[in-house]
Amino acid sequence: MYKIIDGKFHSAEIRKEIAARAAKYKAASGKDIGLAVVLVGEDPASQIYVRNKIKGCEEVGIKSYASYLPAESTEEQVKELVQSLVDDENINGILVQLPLPKHIDQQAVLKLIPKEKDVDGFCEENIGSLCLNKDCLPACTPNGIMKMLERENIAISGKNAVVIGRSAIVGKPMAMLLLNANATVTICHSKTENLPEICRQADILVAAIGKANFVTNDFVKQGAVVIDVGMNRDKDGKLCGDVDFQSVKDKCSYITPVPGGVGPMTITMLLYNTVVAAERTLCILNLTKNTAIICNISMKNCKNSATKS
Ligand code: GUN
Repeated sequence: MYKIIDGKFHSAEIRKEIAARAAKYKAASGKDIGLAVVLVGEDPASQIYVRNKIKGCEEVGIKSYASYLPAESTEEQVKELVQSLVDDENINGILVQLPLPKHIDQQAVLKLIPKEKDVDGFCEENIGSLCLNKDCLPACTPNGIMKMLERENIAISGKNAVVIGRSAIVGKPMAMLLLNANATVTICHSKTENLPEICRQADILVAAIGKANFVTNDFVKQGAVVIDVGMNRDKDGKLCGDVDFQSVKDKCSYITPVPGGVGPMTITMLLYNTVVAAERTLCILNLTKNTAIICNISMKNCKNSATKS
């Protein structure tokens, strides 16, 4: 019998923890935690994402600073805005909603965001730290998957994990997080030969390919944990994942549904990364002032700053 991993439930529980930590931050610093959200253009999907991110901030007591620029903005104008957010000490995290309009060099804009404020986990320094298994802010979707595995007490160390998909936002950081948790990791992609056979070795199978109902019964080992990152429309226009849920469910020990699995975790982990980013600045301030840590914040979050001070 399989168990459904309920992303809505985990997300709500984690948001309670985030709200408590945001309140503690305010009590210690006298300031709200700030998240800047930048949207360039009028892409309808991006507008919905941004709205939901701002709503999430309100729910947990993080102050959001939304900036909307027209699609015709020049790269210089976008960079100028991002630089002002980098320089603003009330802002702990910066999120530039992607994709940016085609005439803007995405990497050139993202490069301006320092590792400490990169709550999306997209900047090269954060990705490098993730690869080196050092403190970092990991990308939100894979970080949310790790959180769900942890909260479900699913063992990772020593297990075979197969990730289908090699995107910079999901597949690659997912593989790194699993590797850092001591899984034996295989990354598959569109050129992989014998894909079902490789996937059948997986104790943990993560599908992040963007193809509706692609993973079927013959991809799945008996007892596997199956994580579906897909957000697709099937031929009837219904929302569906990369995994054919009906076909694989009876082979799984755990499975995430679509909707209601991985999806609800992504914005929650953005809020989570923002709280962690804020707590780290507070630790730096306190340590450089050479005062006791006045806030009751986990020292784990102070690891980097402690070595800096
Ligand atoms: N566009 C689609 N997903 C994301 C995301 O997680 N972060 C950002 N910044 N843009 C996105």
